[in-house]
Amino acid sequence: MDPKKRVGLEAALRVEDGMVVGLGTGSTTHHFIKSLAERLKEEELEVWGIPTSYQSYFLAVELGIPVTTLDEHRPDLAVDGADEVDPHLNLIKGGGAAHTREKIVDYAARTFLVIVDEAKLVDQLGRFPVPVEVLPGAMSTVKEGLESMGGTAHLRMAHMKDGPVISDNNNFILDVQFESIPHPVHLEKELNNIPGVLENGIFTGAVDEVLAGSVDQVKSLKK
Ligand code: 5RP
Repeated sequence: MDPKKRVGLEAALRVEDGMVVGLGTGSTTHHFIKSLAERLKEEELEVWGIPTSYQSYFLAVELGIPVTTLDEHRPDLAVDGADEVDPHLNLIKGGGAAHTREKIVDYAARTFLVIVDEAKLVDQLGRFPVPVEVLPGAMSTVKEGLESMGGTAHLRMAHMKDGPVISDNNNFILDVQFESIPHPVHLEKELNNIPGVLENGIFTGAVDEVLAGSVDQVKSLKK
């Protein structure tokens, strides 16, 4: 079975009746949300989702998962994908430009479960560029700030639309390549200190468990 589908199915089994669940974004969480919707129908479970993007919002609505907000509920469990996972369970996220809302929901959850294809496991973060969401008017000053920190920043360009990607929050995304990221906890904070940065895609100290899938098994990683 496809590793992403395998971990999506496994994560859906972690959801219990009455839970509020953070619905992550991306192709792996797509499988999770579909499997969750099937369980809701077959087992008549009462579950509410808090989407982390328009993608997960529209999918939840299409599949009949009731949605709510952080103003009304806190998530018991958040399930989300990642672009890289290090041995301390620090992450790079934001390949789908959704990391700001993902971080808000995932960090608010009582339990944060990450689901990935095992190819996303790395010894050190940094092969995948760090996505940084930036207020459009601050793009050039933020770029300078990132470059003074040793990063090379590229404005993410859209497909099927001329010009840059516009995030769900109406901002730009800079993808920042660092030579290496030996101290992700420090870098997560430093990036957010640049005026005009809304949020960056380094997630540290928040993950409770990672389910890493291969074609024939799922491994559970905990700190
Ligand atoms: C979106 C994300 C995704 O969770 C991350 O990019 C992984 O995506 P996929 O499951 O498609 O590999 O952070 O902003």
